[in-house]
Amino acid sequence: MNKYIAHRIELINNTLSDLYPADAALNKILAQSMNYSLTAGGKRLRPLMLMAAADAIGDNGEKYNRIACALELIHTYSLIHDDLPAMDNDDYRRGKLTNHKVYGDGMAVLAGDALLTMAFDVIASNPDIKSEHLLKVVQEISYAAGPQGMVGGQAIDLLSENKNISLTELRQLHSAKTGALFRAAVRSGAILAQASAVQLTALTKYAEEFGLAFQITDDILDIIGDDKKTGKPTGSDIKNHKSTYVSLLSLSEAKHLAQTSIENAVTALTIFGDNAQFLKTLVKNLLDRQS
Ligand code: IPE
Ligand code: IPE
Ligand code: MG
Ligand code: MG
Ligand code: MG
Repeated sequence: MNKYIAHRIELINNTLSDLYPADAALNKILAQSMNYSLTAGGKRLRPLMLMAAADAIGDNGEKYNRIACALELIHTYSLIHDDLPAMDNDDYRRGKLTNHKVYGDGMAVLAGDALLTMAFDVIASNPDIKSEHLLKVVQEISYAAGPQGMVGGQAIDLLSENKNISLTELRQLHSAKTGALFRAAVRSGAILAQASAVQLTALTKYAEEFGLAFQITDDILDIIGDDKKTGKPTGSDIKNHKSTYVSLLSLSEAKHLAQTSIENAVTALTIFGDNAQFLKTLVKNLLDRQS
């Protein structure tokens, strides 16, 4: 399974380099700034999940590699903006200086804007895929990335600094800022592979539980993680007085909640049998993730 994941990550990284050669933009500095964050590494989880969801339906996820990479463009943009001084004000990401530390705040904003916009061009430019499927995917991804999803969640996150919010509000925040993109990744893979309504519902449940477990473990790593492994500074949430699962609950309660979500996600995969091996491994890996 590890070999399989490594192969897919290589495919994603190669596609990202093909999609975006360093000198592609009108302006070289903009191109370099986009490339700097894209090639800095990262776990590539969202593209992996899009492809794995198509596998679960019995299709070959690799066919949707380009669309999967569009998600990584959007995710990378969200990280560049998340690190800006006006947001989390962090200096390291993916083991390197953050984009704005190298290229300045203005260029970091533009690199993010460019990655987001380019993602939709990449999705639309797939002549081998039926346009009706592409349209559905655009709908899924744009909704998830926008004010009802990731950006909406980031707004609530920003406004929740220095405040006591309830666990229900925190769950909502997490499900928007982080869960929405995972949900769109999995649902897009399922849509492209022509999943039935029952399969789509099961995969949506899986993705929602995955997203929750993922952000809880992210909050835990902000406290007990090793920044050499996470590639970003530990203690960022405390510095910014964020509401997180660890600030609202104890560390062990947060771990327990993550574990329950992981179990729920695995249960949601039952109907797919062996075809869901890859999705199962991805969520089980969250249990002891260190990066
Ligand atoms: C970090 O995402 C931001 C969150 C949504 C918590 P990842 O942990 O997937 O970051 P990379 O892509 O591996 O750098
Ligand atoms: C941000 O959450 C999630 C995004 C939408 C980018 P965090 O602010 O906790 O992400 P990290 O810890 O900086 O990666
Ligand atoms: Mg943040
Ligand atoms: Mg952050
Ligand atoms: Mg975090």
